Amino acid sequence: MDESLETVLVAFDDERGVGTITMNRPDALNALNGQLRDDIIAGLESLEERNANADGVALRAVVLEGAGEKAFCAGADIGGFSSESAGGSSARSHYDVIRDFPAPVIAKIDGYCLGGGLETALACDFRLASEDSTFGFPEVNLGILPGAGGVQYVEKLAGPSVAKELAMFGNHISAERAGDEGLVNHVYADNEFEDEVDDFVTELAGQAPLAVQAIKKSAAMAVQTGLEEGIEYDRQLFAELLETEDHAEGAAAFGEDREPEFEGK
Ligand code: HXC
Repeated sequence: MDESLETVLVAFDDERGVGTITMNRPDALNALNGQLRDDIIAGLESLEERNANADGVALRAVVLEGAGEKAFCAGADIGGFSSESAGGSSARSHYDVIRDFPAPVIAKIDGYCLGGGLETALACDFRLASEDSTFGFPEVNLGILPGAGGVQYVEKLAGPSVAKELAMFGNHISAERAGDEGLVNHVYADNEFEDEVDDFVTELAGQAPLAVQAIKKSAAMAVQTGLEEGIEYDRQLFAELLETEDHAEGAAAFGEDREPEFEGK
């Protein structure tokens, strides 16, 4: 299944169960206008539908990337801000949809990752960057703040000093520094970027899918709640996973000294 929305390309790799959403406004460095925000949601929903219609879990991971040579995403489209740019309406924003998406979403960052683009990447489960990528919150230069939780996310990942430095100065930082601060999972040399991302995604997509989805839920719970409630939540997830065919398959494969074949059941 490959489909083309106005500002997003959607692809699905049947072999690995990997969806790809490409933000496709390269002439505007993939800046987020209303259409692009809507199309990201529509693209993710079409991947989710495919998943729901499959026998078991077919969709194991989604890669989110930017078209063109220069940018993952240069932020909200400066041509027209509103509170909706930050997801401020009754409908779920693309940030919420990514964050709540059942399968893990990987931001594949090659170039500028700024403002709402960085917040989009932060809503993803993983951030993989090429070494020439740059990161920043330039909103302060426009007299606003990162409106979709950028300071909140960076504060949790890298602490308050880094969050305030990024947001108050509005400067770009290198991929290397973003990696050192824990804002991205891995930084790869440009000539190895495609292969390294592919390997990462392939390995993730080969993990037991229901366990991966439960871990995503657990991690989301961990930032919302206290330790005791979080541990209780994990116990429930654990009990559910114990009943799955994938768990039986994983245990059998271990006993038989072979690779497990997980089916998401
Ligand atoms: C609309 C944008 C854009 C943006 C770039 N473009 N960023 N259009 N919104 N955020 C357009 C430029 O106007 C230009 O169009 C084309 O993309 C190429 O950009 P250049 O500036 O010519 O490229 P370059 O000189 O390489 O500079 C790249 C850049 C710069 C450093 C990334 O474009 C820049 O500073 N952009 C703004 C980044 C920004 O402030 N983002 C945060 C937005 S606020 P033309 O037609 O001239 O070729 C935000 C708030 C979120 O995200 C809060 C709510 C969630």
